[in-house]
This record gives sequence, C-alpha cells and structure tokens, in this order.
Amino acid sequence: MEFTTLKGFKDVLPEDVGTWQRLEFKARRILRSFGFHEIKPPIIEKTELFSRSIGQDTDIVSKEMYSIVDAKGKSISLRPEATASVARAYIQHRLYKKNPVQKLFTFGPMFRRERPQKGRFRQFYQINAEILGDTGPRSDADLIILATTILSEVGLSGLTLHLNSLGCAQCRPRYREGLQEFLSQRTDVLCSDCRKRATTNPLRVFDCKVETCNEVVSDAPSILDHICEDCRNHFDSLKGYLDDSNIPFVLNHRLVRGLDYYTRTSFELQTEHLGAQNAVCGGGRYDALLKLLGGPDHPAIGFAMGIERLVDLLSEDGKENSPAPELFVAGLGEKAEGEVFGWVRDLRKAGIWVEMEYASKALKAQMKRADRLGAKKVLMVGDNELASGKGVLRDMETKEQKEIDLKNIVDNLKKVLGRDE
Ligand code: HAM
Repeated sequence: MEFTTLKGFKDVLPEDVGTWQRLEFKARRILRSFGFHEIKPPIIEKTELFSRSIGQDTDIVSKEMYSIVDAKGKSISLRPEATASVARAYIQHRLYKKNPVQKLFTFGPMFRRERPQKGRFRQFYQINAEILGDTGPRSDADLIILATTILSEVGLSGLTLHLNSLGCAQCRPRYREGLQEFLSQRTDVLCSDCRKRATTNPLRVFDCKVETCNEVVSDAPSILDHICEDCRNHFDSLKGYLDDSNIPFVLNHRLVRGLDYYTRTSFELQTEHLGAQNAVCGGGRYDALLKLLGGPDHPAIGFAMGIERLVDLLSEDGKENSPAPELFVAGLGEKAEGEVFGWVRDLRKAGIWVEMEYASKALKAQMKRADRLGAKKVLMVGDNELASGKGVLRDMETKEQKEIDLKNIVDNLKKVLGRDE
C-alpha cells in the first residue's frame, strides 16, 4: 500500500520552498519595520475559544473544525485561524500591561475542513498581523498599508482592496433587524442554509455562494446606509487616510467576511486570477472580542493572508530560481576522496555551499551530477593531481578549465569564490 496525503492537504516540495521562504523573509522585514513582534501560539486550543470568537453559526465553527475529545472529555480543536489565539494570549499574559498597544504577528498552519478546490486547502498557512489596544482609524489605515506593502514587495500587483464597515453594537442590531425583515419576505428563493441563517445570523446570507441567494442579497439594504455617526466618522476618516496614501479601494457593502467577531472596518484584497477563491488577504476590526473572551474592553484590528494563494499568484519570474551549489568537488580514487571530504567540510564552515559524491564514482558520473545540481564550478582531483599538487578547476558556464594549487586549497578556493576576507 502506498500512502498519500489526505484530501485537501499537500506537501510543499523543495522546488517551492524557496518561494515560501522568500515570501516569509520579505514579510518579516516589513512587519519589523512597522513595529510588529512575533508570537507563536499553539495550534490546538479549547474548541470553545474558537466557537465563542468566530461564532457558533459560522461555517468555520459549525462545519469545518477538526475537533477531538481528549482523554478527560474536553473538546479541543486544531486552530482554523489565529486571531482567537492571539487574543487569548493577549489576555492570558496581560500583554497590555507591558504596552497598551500590542502589534503582533504570527506565521503558521491553519486547519479548516472545507471542500478542497484550487486555492482552498484543509491545511493552509497564514501570515497574520494584529494591532491590539487601539481604536483607530489611523491603526486601520496603517494595517491596510502594511498588507499592501507586503503584497507589493513580494511582487503581487493588480489586487483590489474591498472595504466595508460592519457597524458596532449600537447600529448593527438595527440593520440586522431590517435585513431579517427583508429576507423573511424572500425565504422561498433562499437555499435551505440561508433560510436558517435569515433568522439566526442574517448577515451570513451575504457569504452564500448559491446563485439565487446572491440575487436576493443584491437588492438587500446596504449596511453603509445604516451605520451610526461614530462608525461613519471612523469609516470616513479611514477612507481619507487611504486616499492620502494613494491606496485605491472599492466600497463593498456585501463584504461581511466569514467570522462573527468583526465590527466596523472589514476589508479584503482580492484577485481575479484564482477563480472562486479570490481573497488573498482578509481582515477587519474586532473591538468586542477581547471583552467577550473575558479580557479588558480593548479594541483590535488585524488581517491574515494565505501563503498558498500568494505562492500560486506569483508569476514564474517572481519565483525563486532553483538554488545551486557554488562548487562541486570531484575526487577520484580513495586517497583523493579522503582529501576531498576534509576540504568540503572546511569550505562549508565558511558558509560556502559545496557538494561532493558520497559513493566512489567515475569522473563522468560525478560531472553529470554536478551539472544536474547546477554547480557553478567543479574542482577535479585524482591521484595525478595529488602527486603534482595542482587540481583542475572548471567553470561550468564558460567551460574554461584552469589549474589551482592544492597547497592551502581551502583558502585558494575561498579566494576564487570571493570569500577571502
Ligand atoms: P479569513 O478570511 O478566513 O480570515 O482568512 C484569511 C486568508 O487566509 C484568506 O484571504 C485566504 O487568503 C486564506 N485562506 C482562508 N481559508 C483558506 C483555505 N481553506 N485554503 C487556503 N487559503 C485560505 C481570517 O482567518 C481572520 N483570522 C483574519 C483576521 C485577522 N481578521 C482579523 N485579524
């Protein structure tokens, strides 16, 4: 029997790892310049943390979590997202006492038992950034600028920023009632899920992918016409900062996002190139979550971007060229093989990527391997070279060969490879 990955799970193969690392490296650099610090929460938490934060009636909690009951009868779950864990950590460790505004980021895998398709996996990686403890709107704008900076720095363009305000505890209930009333007159054309949502969580109907539900909500009242004065001022001010920063956006009153904790600002950066899974980055404000989880009444905002989707979108030339060794050392005969082993070990101490053959092989086979690895240079040494004290160094690109002194060969090679400082 041959084992394969589970449905919706995938291996990131060595040829793609370079692109992942480059993304992560650039994102880390930018996150640092925006003053963010890394946090590494565990990937398993109490199920209740997620159900309370994300919302019992959301698809994520009601259908997609990987939950198990542990030996003591407690339900625990693989995290479907990171925000709830970051919020828990902020409260548990009283991070706000050290600094009232915490800017935290995390990288790592998330798990959702969704139907797999292009750009949608059951294990996927996110870059997650959260600003906890600030009411905005300057922090909203700064966070959106952070997201767009990361995306443009890694080479992604042509994304559209969709922006909405979901109101607050003062104005959203009124809007929710109006929407409920609107939907109740159209239940006959709603799908069975949305018929339920229309009473339990009507804003979720905006998320439904069923065509008839989509048509219904296209005429639904817009939340942007119903937010209170404070929410309106917040939103107008955010739009002003984005305009001043030359960040174009489209208003999308249907952008409710799939998690219940959002208040006020919600946003997504979307692409036209990933089919139905068009969101590369999504986020928003969650001013009530920390209090809901038993913490202080502090506001917060954050986003997450899906790394698989970013990797998918990067054009071929944006991808990392396969990295190649700087040098291959081909030893011929027992004596030379022994010498080569020591040279390779010492060159690696200087941080030089050097390859050699473990097994004894003919020169032709070793040259073939060096070529396949893409080695830039090959040093060839056999009994004759050892006797004469001169090895042969071949430039694999120009095919030029020259002699190199074997006395102090490690230092000589460092010089040739530009590491003689
Ligand atoms: P989300 O919209 O559920 O938000 O996910 C954010 C991003 O993760 C998506 O835009 C997408 O790029 C990626 N993503 C989501 N699901 C999948 C999947 N099944 N396969 C591949 N990629 C996926 C959140 O997770 C919120 N926690 C964001 C946030 C942070 N809000 C405030 N702070």
